[in-house]
Amino acid sequence: MGGIGSYAPPQIVSNQALAKIVDTSDEWIRARTGIRERRIANNGENCSDLGAKAARAAMAHAKIDPEDIDLLIVATMTPDMPFPSTACIIQTKLGLRNIPCFDIVAACAGFIYILDVGCQMLKSGNYRNALVIGCEKLSSIMDWQDRTTCVLFGDGAGAIILTKNETAGLGILGTCIAANGADGKILNMPGGGSNEPATTETVLDRRHYLKMMGKEVFKVAVRVMEQSALEVLATHNVKPEDVDCVISHQANIRIIELISTRMGLPMDKFPINLDRYGNTSAASIPLALDEAYREGRIKSGNYVLLIAFGAGLTWGSTLIKWH
Ligand SMILES: CC(C)(COP(=O)(O)OP(=O)(O)OC[C@H]1O[C@@H](n2cnc3c(N)ncnc32)[C@H](O)[C@@H]1OP(=O)(O)O)[C@@H](O)C(=O)NCCC(=O)NCCS
Repeated sequence: MGGIGSYAPPQIVSNQALAKIVDTSDEWIRARTGIRERRIANNGENCSDLGAKAARAAMAHAKIDPEDIDLLIVATMTPDMPFPSTACIIQTKLGLRNIPCFDIVAACAGFIYILDVGCQMLKSGNYRNALVIGCEKLSSIMDWQDRTTCVLFGDGAGAIILTKNETAGLGILGTCIAANGADGKILNMPGGGSNEPATTETVLDRRHYLKMMGKEVFKVAVRVMEQSALEVLATHNVKPEDVDCVISHQANIRIIELISTRMGLPMDKFPINLDRYGNTSAASIPLALDEAYREGRIKSGNYVLLIAFGAGLTWGSTLIKWH
């Protein structure tokens, strides 16, 4: 890995502020999720703006210039618009060359997916520096009348520069990604695609907002994240107890606590920032990884495990030997 950076919009929205909009309370949100506040982008700040800011931070950390980037992949489920891709919009904002730019939709597991795609394309030999960005403006698809979902999510972005590294056994060791589309209905946004193009009825029915069956999602998330983590560790002959730091998708503290118990790893190996950002979907993993790194919680030679789960359903894990 060549560099990492993240960005969250400055506006903080507390649980108390949400309790003035929907029938909820700070106590309920904290007890059920661990979330205290989230960041919300303003109207003039698009998903691509968040992603571009995170990317600039990652490029500064990697000490590379825009002309050195030869591949851009973005993970988002809240693109600026259905097309062109948010990657193409960010390409222009960053002043990148005419390199391949594309989006991948794998919801909250999106960053794990683009890490794998980016690594595979670097391995193929045609690229040297890949910029991978997870960015979300989830506030744009929240139903601010639905207390069961609007309290859970926030806006943000994180980015990594993947650099071709010939040193064996260092950097990203491997990724396992998977999906089960049969369970797609438990977390989706039904309106706005070719199945339900926008009409007065779809708008009045609030079909253009995120819908979730929270309890079902919770159960599957715990099971598949643990399975995926164990799979990537076994593939690389690393025992769970040898992992130094686990960056879990920051959706709900209770999900992370269950994974910690099931894997037999103490919670102090799991950096947490969902209390301050909520669930930022594809931005969640790079935002938490960047913070943990800057706080000195990840050191050279550490095994770092990333695990995520999202709509699709999609999930995945990445094992990194940090250097
Ligand atoms: C959403 C979630 C926090 C709900 O927690 P829960 O313990 O399952 O709560 P329930 O859905 O059973 O709801 C319990 C009660 O709280 C109410 N409730 C729901 N949201 C509430 C809120 N924001 N404030 C107050 N009460 C709320 C429900 O209406 C329900 O009331 P009832 O018993 O009178 O029907 C939890 O299911 C969850 O985190 N699921 C995973 C979601 C997730 O991570 N999604 C992203 C995946 S990438």
